Amino acid sequence: MSSEKVSVHGSWASRWVFILAATGSAVGLGSIWKFPYMVGEYGGGAFVLVFLACIALIGVPVMLAETLIGRRARQSPANALAALARDVGQPAAWSWAAFAGMLTALLILSFYSVVGGWSFDYILDMAKGDFQGVTPDQVGAYFGNVIGDPLRLIFWHSVFMFTSAVVIAKGVVGGLERSLRIMMPLLFVLLLVLLGYSMTTGHFMQGLHFMFDFDASKVLDGLLPAMGHAFFSLSVGVGSIMIYGAYMPKSASIGGTIVSVALLDTFVSLLAGVALFPIVFAAGLNPSEGPGLMFVTLPYAFGSVPFGQVMGVVFFILVGVAAWSSAISLLEPMVAYLVERHKISRAWVSTWLALACWLFGLGTVFSFNLWKEAKFFVNDAAGFHLYQWGAQAGLDFFGVVDFFTSRIMLPLGGLCFAVFAGWVMGRAAVRDELAMRHPLAFEATFFLMRYVAPCGILIVFAAQLWK
Ligand code: PHE
Repeated sequence: MSSEKVSVHGSWASRWVFILAATGSAVGLGSIWKFPYMVGEYGGGAFVLVFLACIALIGVPVMLAETLIGRRARQSPANALAALARDVGQPAAWSWAAFAGMLTALLILSFYSVVGGWSFDYILDMAKGDFQGVTPDQVGAYFGNVIGDPLRLIFWHSVFMFTSAVVIAKGVVGGLERSLRIMMPLLFVLLLVLLGYSMTTGHFMQGLHFMFDFDASKVLDGLLPAMGHAFFSLSVGVGSIMIYGAYMPKSASIGGTIVSVALLDTFVSLLAGVALFPIVFAAGLNPSEGPGLMFVTLPYAFGSVPFGQVMGVVFFILVGVAAWSSAISLLEPMVAYLVERHKISRAWVSTWLALACWLFGLGTVFSFNLWKEAKFFVNDAAGFHLYQWGAQAGLDFFGVVDFFTSRIMLPLGGLCFAVFAGWVMGRAAVRDELAMRHPLAFEATFFLMRYVAPCGILIVFAAQLWK
């Protein structure tokens, strides 16, 4: 019976370890770095509200689907989909959804590592006292210098990628637990400290209004970005949560566990936003600053409070670790697949995959300096160009990879997983795997997975095309 299968990669000691690992995957740069700058870019409250709705109605059902598929098959995503499809007489070609997911995960990792590297860089800068007593303008210029220096970025990108590969080569199950048990709660505490500081800036209410005032006219623009980010933030749509589900003990309840992980992740995002925006306003910075928002705002805050230097060092270490645990979950589906399929060692696979991501990540490194002027998908007064050097509009290399992965591939992957659980596996298998106590809870969950999530994804895509 499929429910008795055991994964060859090991399994989590308990439900608690799954929660730690899945939270480690979900909470990362997505919550702390990306969420605030996207809120800033897409106009505040409207984005936040759509994001929350997408988490609840689309992200969580897809996350449940991924987990139950993984746990039922106890294999890497590609093999899991193929095996479960075969069980019910459906084509094994479903595994293509997982292959697309693996590729997406590697593409995400390519830029994730670059930004993770910024955090590592900032640990040292903080420790040296570079931000003590500086003005917001000076921090802005500092950040500009950091990202303007390709060699510096390559160095930290390499450190990040190398260290992630070492952890993954050793196997996810053992290594993650110990570090996350301490680091995650500590990160949380430091965010609370930052929140405390925000309250003293005199701009706290302004920050709250920005985060939560709803402006209907901004909804449409932020729709696809918010949905894409809901996937990104929860780590769903690529198979990361599916592979972690494959290591989940049979006795653990999927529903409660996944909801806790999603709540924690969302809470960290909101906390990061609520802590950050008052500082942004107090410092006279621009909320729509883009990817540099956190790297300019927080050093300024740490630079102007007592013990800020120590807190800043600890904070960026924790962000680095949070990014790390997410990076590992990005590599894991592909590593597990290749190990299962070709019986090659984890170390070998991890090394080569990390190297490929590292190489591709150079494109993101150069987006901030040498290739700053290289713009793709330019649509301005002069018409549409696939590529143009020096155009005002358009996306840089990082923008293209981010757009393609977060806004297209993650939702498409999620769509496939939800349809697979909701329509292909069959109600009885899903009910058995979810093992919910109340029949009504199961009915509601199955309804979300089968109808609401897939339709929601299609509606958002349609709205984007039509707008
Ligand atoms: N959820 C992670 C973050 O928010 C990123 C991630 C995306 C990890 C997809 C795994 C899969 O930082």
